Amino acid sequence: MTDWTTVATTDELQPGDRKAVFVDDEPVLLVRIDDDYLCVADVCTHDGQPLGDGPIADGQITCTRHGARFDLTTGDALCMPATEPVAVYSVQIDDGQIRVRPGGAESTAETETPTVPAAGQAPETDQDGTAETTAGSDAEAEVEETAGASAMLEALREVIDPELMVNIVDLGLIYDIREEDDEVVSVDMTLTSPACPAGPQLVQQSKMALERLEGVTEARINLVMTPPWTPERMTDDARDKLGIF
Ligand code: FES
Repeated sequence: MTDWTTVATTDELQPGDRKAVFVDDEPVLLVRIDDDYLCVADVCTHDGQPLGDGPIADGQITCTRHGARFDLTTGDALCMPATEPVAVYSVQIDDGQIRVRPGGAESTAETETPTVPAAGQAPETDQDGTAETTAGSDAEAEVEETAGASAMLEALREVIDPELMVNIVDLGLIYDIREEDDEVVSVDMTLTSPACPAGPQLVQQSKMALERLEGVTEARINLVMTPPWTPERMTDDARDKLGIF
């Protein structure tokens, strides 16, 4: 077992403070939240950039580069484009000395673990999920291939996720498109995370993009979380843009 490394004293950090240090030549970030000390690797698992300057809220840190968010207690990646957890360190306080070592089991953090709402807790509009989607298959192939559906997919490609800068079709967010009667279309779409702050914006922009099409007077966007979105739903193009291989 790796020895404990002293990285700071309790006098150094006030609540809300952070300190970037090296432990065994690895960059590490120590954060004080209230009276708890949390420690994670100072490396975003998306693209290897430092996390240290990222905003911290609710026990989570957000990478300033592309917006990935991590739980500081568990290390879990909470939103795209990161899919892998960041390494966590145990923290030990001894006579005013703050010591850390790899592994989170002995963390002194008492902060309640932030949770992402479970699938099914997200707001759903008109209908619950009726998507006939199978996670892992190509996103576009799931939508029944009609001329109308193709035109609608093209229109929806104009809607860009503001955090990931990839269109919602290539992200695999479109589960189903149905042409109803009287120039009404229904779209089942999901989000990369039920807590995605861009959700209302994406829904509104999708509705507007479809209602600009000739022959569509009303677009009903149904936000569904079943089945939950997974990174496998992305097209290769989206993966390339996000640097996910
Ligand atoms: S490097 Fe952190 S989100 Fe891309």
